[in-house]
Amino acid sequence: MSSPSADRSAQVVAVVGATGRQGSAVVRHLLREGWAVRALTRNPASETARSLQAGGASLVTVDAEDVGTLLTAFDGAYGVFNVQNPMTVGIDGELRQGANVATAAARCGVQHVVYGAAGIGPGRTGVGSWDSKNTVAEHFRRQGVPLTVLRPMAFMELMTDRAYYPAVSVWHVMPRLMGGDRPVGWLCTDDLGAVAARVFAAPRRWVDTDLTLVADVRTIDECRALWAELHGRARRSFPMPVWLFERFVGTDLTTMWRWLRTAQFEMSTATTREILPEARTVREWLAALDGDARAEDIRG
Ligand SMILES: NC(=O)c1ccc[n+]([C@@H]2O[C@H](COP(=O)([O-])OP(=O)(O)OC[C@H]3O[C@@H](n4cnc5c(N)ncnc54)[C@H](OP(=O)(O)O)[C@@H]3O)[C@@H](O)[C@H]2O)c1
Repeated sequence: MSSPSADRSAQVVAVVGATGRQGSAVVRHLLREGWAVRALTRNPASETARSLQAGGASLVTVDAEDVGTLLTAFDGAYGVFNVQNPMTVGIDGELRQGANVATAAARCGVQHVVYGAAGIGPGRTGVGSWDSKNTVAEHFRRQGVPLTVLRPMAFMELMTDRAYYPAVSVWHVMPRLMGGDRPVGWLCTDDLGAVAARVFAAPRRWVDTDLTLVADVRTIDECRALWAELHGRARRSFPMPVWLFERFVGTDLTTMWRWLRTAQFEMSTATTREILPEARTVREWLAALDGDARAEDIRG
């Protein structure tokens, strides 16, 4: 494996999922660090894709279900950031698309893949969207692709992003199933992007590692108290019954939260602080929220 050259503008990182939460943060930070970035999307006309292009990324149209499109997108690339979202494509889709990315990265001779995964480590837990990440990581390893696995546990955006239905999920069903006094490892998605860029910049240190990414450890009860302290009122929650939540969202998250109720595992901030000493704590992230993110309605 060669190191990225000092002239990064000549070296390409292709970002799968570039219009998503993780991918867009990775694109932003790679561009800031001087890399040439290919932002992969099914829809280059979307507003998010256009804003990535305006920021300096080149857009490449792909469908990760189609290896041929990935081969074109990875051609000549030094690195690939990979992510799939099983909440939108299903776990089967995640496994298929992850395998396709691994195949294309291997065929194109990609020198470093950074994988935005999840879960507590390589062992199986019975949580579908964690075990699937380990299967995808195995695809990369089996094909001999130099790999770094990033494992954020909970994104701070769970507390506000309306797509996550926070009033129902993180502020109600999650503490109900896992316990509001259980520790949660938090990282904001922007810091995930910053970590990924630093990992790409230091392959000798980070290839072949599996990194738990936690910037702060806080219980949901502590997050609730911080919210009230910083914003002057309690965060509202919406008491949806678990069975109704499962009807809308499926059972993956409820299985995960039940698992977290009793599980014992390492949740250290050390690796994150080594890579990104300035990674935001929950207090810092909540304090910086703008009015829109703080706004409450039935969705969040
Ligand atoms: N939420 C949490 O707290 C948390 C914590 C740790 C880990 N995770 C993990 O984070 C992952 C989700 O990441 P995210 O939130 O960044 O996802 P996201 O915002 O949903 O982004 C996923 C992107 O994938 C692209 N995509 C979907 N289908 C595609 C296809 N067939 N071909 C190519 N691209 C496709 C979409 O882009 P286009 O529409 O532009 O094609 C989309 O923007 C999950 O695996 C989850 O397990 C989440």
